[in-house]
Amino acid sequence: MAGLFITLEGVDGAGKSTHLEWLADQFRDRGRLVRLTREPGGTPLGEKLRALLLGEPMHPDTEVLLMFAARREHLAQVIRPALSAGEVVISDRFTDASFAYQSGGRGIGDARLGILEDWVQEGLQPDLTLLFDVASDVAEARRSAARAPDRFEREQAAFHLRVREAYLRRAAAHPERIRVLDGNRTVEEVRRQIRNFLEDWL
Ligand code: TYD
Repeated sequence: MAGLFITLEGVDGAGKSTHLEWLADQFRDRGRLVRLTREPGGTPLGEKLRALLLGEPMHPDTEVLLMFAARREHLAQVIRPALSAGEVVISDRFTDASFAYQSGGRGIGDARLGILEDWVQEGLQPDLTLLFDVASDVAEARRSAARAPDRFEREQAAFHLRVREAYLRRAAAHPERIRVLDGNRTVEEVRRQIRNFLEDWL
C-alpha cells in the first residue's frame, strides 16, 4: 500500500490537537499503520530545536532557518522512511505553518520560504492538509485558557490575524491539497466534516 502524508494546520487555539488521535484511529480502523508526529520536532534533534524555537528570543531569520533545519531532519529520519514503508504519516504542522507564521506573522517573504521549501522537501508535499480555520475571537479565547503560553502563543492579536490570513491564502493557492475546515463548530461537528471528506477522498 502506498504511504500517505497528512498534515494538520491552523492558528494557535484552532483545535487541531483535539482531533489528532481520533484522526489516527480513522486510518487504523481501515487497517493502516499510522505514524503520528509533529513540527517543529519529530526527531531527537528536532525536539531540541523545538525547545529553543518555543522558548528562546531570536532573529526572525534564525527562527525560519531553525524551523527548516528541524524539518530537514524530520523528513530524512521519520517522514520519508515511514512513507516508503507504506505508513500513514500524520504531522501536527508542517511547511504551511512556516508560510503562515514566519511569512505571514513575521514578514519573511514567501519567495525566501519557497527556496527553503524546494531545498528541504525536494518536491515532496503532503497528500492532504486539513486546515482548522477559526474566527480570531474564538482562537483568542482558547489561547487565553491555555496553561504556560509559548513564544508564539504570547504574540498579540494582530500577529495571529496575519497568521490566519496567510493560511487562507495558502489554501486558496493549493486547493488540490489543502482542505479548509470550519473549526468554530463543536468537536463532533468538526469530526463529521472530516469523516464526510475522508470517505470521498480515500
Ligand atoms: P503547536 O503545534 O501549537 O503545539 P502546542 O499545541 O503544544 O502548543 O506549537 C508549535 C508552535 O510553533 C506554533 O505556535 C506554531 C509554531 N510554528 C511556526 O511558527 N512555524 C513552523 O514552521 C511550525 C511547524 C510551527
